[in-house]
Amino acid sequence: MDAIDVIRSKRDGGALTDEQIDWAVDAYTRGAIAEEQMASLAMAILLNGMSRAEVARWTEAMIRSGERMDWSALDRPTTDKHSTGGVGDKITLPLAPLVAACGAAVPQLSGRGLGHTGGTLDKLESIPGWRASLSNTEMLDVLRAAGAVICAAGGGLAPADRKLYALRDVTGTVESIPLIASSIMSKKIAEGTGALVLDVKVGSGAFMKTAADARELAETMVAIGTDHGVRTIALLTAMDRPLGNAVGNAVEVAESVEVLAGGGPSDVVELTLTLAREMLAAAGVSGKDPADALKDGSAMDVWRRMIAAQGGDPDAALPAARENHVVAAPSSGVLTRLDAYGVGVAAWRLGAGRARKEDPVSFAAGVTCHAKPGDAVTAGQPLLTLHADDESRFPRALEALEGAVSVSTSTEENGASDLHPLV
Ligand code: URA
Repeated sequence: MDAIDVIRSKRDGGALTDEQIDWAVDAYTRGAIAEEQMASLAMAILLNGMSRAEVARWTEAMIRSGERMDWSALDRPTTDKHSTGGVGDKITLPLAPLVAACGAAVPQLSGRGLGHTGGTLDKLESIPGWRASLSNTEMLDVLRAAGAVICAAGGGLAPADRKLYALRDVTGTVESIPLIASSIMSKKIAEGTGALVLDVKVGSGAFMKTAADARELAETMVAIGTDHGVRTIALLTAMDRPLGNAVGNAVEVAESVEVLAGGGPSDVVELTLTLAREMLAAAGVSGKDPADALKDGSAMDVWRRMIAAQGGDPDAALPAARENHVVAAPSSGVLTRLDAYGVGVAAWRLGAGRARKEDPVSFAAGVTCHAKPGDAVTAGQPLLTLHADDESRFPRALEALEGAVSVSTSTEENGASDLHPLV
């Protein structure tokens, strides 16, 4: 088999054969296909697409590139959720302990933020002492002790995706439905969860900007999961405005803890409860309602055990920014626009995200939103507070917010932020 023949097949709009796919993924993982050849193949896939059969085979080959985890030693069913990424999307933090408090086990392998979307591991690392890297045995120990674990995927899990994702990130080939679907599902299937709820984000702050693309991505992933015996369902949820009020790292941990304490912004609480109920139903676990587990403190108990089991101090003060800059409402009226992408880029430029994989993040950096679209505001009231370690970060963050925030006396632009159950 020859890399150039495979590239030409896809470049010319053909379907790749099973043999071509198996060979390309395996050869790339072993280093037998050069990075520039895989970049060219990824671009051909982005431009010409893949059939469902090709995506299924590609995913299978990525799973086979590494190990598969096995949770059969646990005495309760496993269930997980994956978000395709957004701005202020801290849902995993309250969700994993909440679902564990209701009787399922949650083995959640999470990622780091890249670009304008935040990463669960970066957020959790703002808790002093908390460790993202665990061995498989340590994962099992935390699952047994707390019922939920959130950690980084080990090097042995879907190594083909690890390499390919890093390559796609620097070659403009992230926004491809077949490549996103196979990337996410290879990791989730290799992770060994019995049930999976996909939170497919749609809107300016998401990879999928239209509902039609989000639906196609969701249906592709549900089909792959189902074929592999994982009970998989997907929701399409809005990512046109930030989720909750906090965007960043430590500020999102603080907001998640508010939710676990029975408070927090209503959109975060609503999405957390919706996903928790779906995860429990997919795992076949019935009994405690998640809303009760938020009220009676049992979800908070799991959170504290889970954080402590990974070396973190759940009572430690979170990092706070040295510098703060308030963006005030320019006039009185209704906040009609708070664009997720603009706020995400601002948080990233403040230091909450990284431009390259190896860059450190600032745990204290981020944005606090004081109003949501639809809220009445008065001239001069704070709309946003920007947090940074260094005030030289503010001008570029403010540039990202140009056109992202508007106040009007009309409510025409104010689209409702809705959950759309899909399958
Ligand atoms: N998340 C992933 O894990 N992979 C992608 O390709 C996009 C989002």
